[in-house]
Amino acid sequence: MANLTIRKLDDALKAELRQRAAGNGRSMEDEVRVILRDAVHQRHGFAPSLPQDQGASPKAGPDAASHGHHEAFPSPQARITLIVGGGIAAYKAMDLIRRLKERSAEVRVVLTKAAQQFVTPLTASALSHQRCYTDLFDPQSEFDAGHIRLARDCDLIVVAPATADLMAKIAGGHADDLATAILLATNRPILLAPAMNPLMWKNPATRRNVDQLRRDGVTMVGPNAGEMAERGEAGTGRMAEPIEIAAAAQALLAPPPPRPLRGKRVLITAGPTHEPIDPVRYIANRSSGKQGYAIAAAAVQAGAEVVLISGPVDLRAPAGVTLTRVESARDMLAAVQAALPADIAIFAAAVADWRVASEGGQKIKKGAGGPPPLQLTENPDILATIARLADGRPPLVIGFAAETENLLDNARAKLARKGCDWIVANDVSPATGVMGGDRNTVHLLMKSADAIAVESWPVMTKDEVASALVARIAQATELHES
Ligand SMILES: Cc1cc2nc3c(=O)[nH]c(=O)nc-3n(C[C@H](O)[C@H](O)[C@H](O)COP(=O)(O)O)c2cc1C
Repeated sequence: MANLTIRKLDDALKAELRQRAAGNGRSMEDEVRVILRDAVHQRHGFAPSLPQDQGASPKAGPDAASHGHHEAFPSPQARITLIVGGGIAAYKAMDLIRRLKERSAEVRVVLTKAAQQFVTPLTASALSHQRCYTDLFDPQSEFDAGHIRLARDCDLIVVAPATADLMAKIAGGHADDLATAILLATNRPILLAPAMNPLMWKNPATRRNVDQLRRDGVTMVGPNAGEMAERGEAGTGRMAEPIEIAAAAQALLAPPPPRPLRGKRVLITAGPTHEPIDPVRYIANRSSGKQGYAIAAAAVQAGAEVVLISGPVDLRAPAGVTLTRVESARDMLAAVQAALPADIAIFAAAVADWRVASEGGQKIKKGAGGPPPLQLTENPDILATIARLADGRPPLVIGFAAETENLLDNARAKLARKGCDWIVANDVSPATGVMGGDRNTVHLLMKSADAIAVESWPVMTKDEVASALVARIAQATELHES
């Protein structure tokens, strides 16, 4: 009936209706239904309909009820357009429909022409409880630009299996069938689950297309390594399992993580310093820089602007961090001073306490006189220098105390001596494997006006220590500001 109503409208009204439907993410027919329903409700004094996103409550369909252990998608009811390409893994896409529906998603399936060689529209409709779409030039759905609706009236587009051919077409911007027209017309996130023969996956043309698609912001899940459908073939090219694809879809639709350090500038030092003896030799220590780099990554995730000043390490800077590389303690101090002001300064670097008093300008020669005497002199104390700044001291200054004995006593003494606010104390005696390892056992000492609070954390990975420290900082910053 809604169809008939639309046909009878004059062009201006039809245009207005089209615009309103697009704005609400509905088809024109659905929009007419909503208008008619609202008109009836208003006559009877009911509240008008809300746009779909606000009005719909999470639908616990029969599948959701029978698989209650699955976490539902975060939006009221996630709407997913699933495009199935023409690969042997198309049959697994039918299971994917179920996996997505278990998570309370509404799934609309589009089958490419080649996909219909492997699965039927009837199977897809039966599993999705929706009409299955196959044709770009389908008068029934194109009456109200159905391909645009399928492209936009959803929260996410999943392509599974994404065949080599389909990926080439998406990378090249083709739109000569329903699937590619949807993918070109969408402004929603796209998740591809590639599936193909390992040689197709390795082919330079596919590599180029994969790179292009990643640059275009497309997310991929898989392919996995394993046996292929072709007898005797194995390698990377198997489509990710439906449950992995559903989890990846869920992650893409998850609300963005909280950003408690947004607007804060965090300065972090990491790694060892190298103190030159002559142009080819130096004094160093065993710090790997992993803990400082992990804190930098966690602070970026928490929304902070992060400046990382790093001694020589073999680590890649976490995305979103501004990295300055330095060699010696004196270079590190200069870089820290240049990076101020900061809201929070975390000194995780293992700065050498001493350097050679007179660095040789030339390589020191081995001679008859025996080993050269190395006269050491004290390096600047970066933590104390910044913690005691009269002007421009960061409001929260955190030091690290790496100790091999009397851990808490030494850390308490360091807290008082350096003038910082918190100390992260860790036992770095060789048996702990902390230096260079991936785990850390730390105590957090926090100075307040009249006491020092000590929290002893269980053994954790350095990433976990970083997240816990950033969470503690966020808490303290919030308290300070409220
Ligand atoms: C039995 C069979 C299995 C196929 N499996 C795959 C596959 O897993 N991955 C792939 O990229 N192409 C596969 N192809 C080739 C595709 O079907 C072909 O490239 C097709 O044009 C892809 O269509 P699409 O762009 O609609 O996905 C297969 C072909 C046949 C005959």
